[in-house]
Amino acid sequence: MSKPKVVITRRWPEAAEARAKELFDVVLNEDDHPMSIAELQEALETADAVCPTVSDQITAEVLGAEPMKCKILGNYGVGFNHIDLDAAKSRNLVVTNTPEVLTDCTADIAMILMLSVARRIGEGERHVRNKEWTGWRPTHMMGTKVTGKTLGLIGMGRIARAMAHKAHHGFGMKIIFTDPYPPPDEIVQDLNAESRDSIEDVLKDADFVSLHCPGGEETYHLLNEERIKMMKPGAFLINSARGDVIDPQALITALKNGSIAGAGLDVYEGEPNVQEEFLSMENVVLLPHLGSATIETRVAMGMRALDNVKAFFDGKEPGDRVA
Ligand code: DGY
Repeated sequence: MSKPKVVITRRWPEAAEARAKELFDVVLNEDDHPMSIAELQEALETADAVCPTVSDQITAEVLGAEPMKCKILGNYGVGFNHIDLDAAKSRNLVVTNTPEVLTDCTADIAMILMLSVARRIGEGERHVRNKEWTGWRPTHMMGTKVTGKTLGLIGMGRIARAMAHKAHHGFGMKIIFTDPYPPPDEIVQDLNAESRDSIEDVLKDADFVSLHCPGGEETYHLLNEERIKMMKPGAFLINSARGDVIDPQALITALKNGSIAGAGLDVYEGEPNVQEEFLSMENVVLLPHLGSATIETRVAMGMRALDNVKAFFDGKEPGDRVA
């Protein structure tokens, strides 16, 4: 029996590509360029499965490919707001994602952003590299203490829980959170965490606010001007979720007028374009969407996407089906 044909839209770590080749008749995007609408449509028209990733826009237009051969989108990534799920369902496509395997590394990046912006790490690095450092002195580059402060989590899914664990058990932080689907009691108790009824209730009391909600229409500019103004003076905003959860202009204004102390960002509205004003601000730490970027996690994400596609072609229910 011939193997199902699978198009993988961007290069994966070697071990994951090797496994893909064992299982399927694989078409790789050899030079790793972002695929155009026409290329994505060709993939849908010629392959049994397509494995896109979070930087591919799988819109209704792309999914209008005709004739559609593809049966499953085995997304490489946990977020799937780049896939028009209604359009995918209307084309009878199964869609899967890769949860769990990236939880710890993404939570680590949220911690890194929090610590970096509070302790002025990017600024300090630039200072040394630019040969501007003239020596130790008591008032030099003082930052903000993290240990013992209050961390407010907007969304309390897997990544937020992992961050809360590190922050509470490692840094003695008080955890407050809001989520329409709160975690089980034993998790809340282990973190000694406090559930709040609204986002506003978290914003007004947190020294650090970290965003952990999915992207998409429902959370578009959730952190708008009004809500950013509710944050404590001296507070910091961390985003390792999706760029469009924050209104970037509102954040830029708040950072410029000092109504909050700083921000740590791994994701951006319209990425890879980053709002020009952020680039010259010292109170912002900017990373290029590195949440899951460790070799261990990126291999595991590939394996998880392949497990889903394999299950589908074996006639089983894929473990991580989202549509
Ligand atoms: C995801 O998986 O959704 C991340 O944004 C990339 O790892």
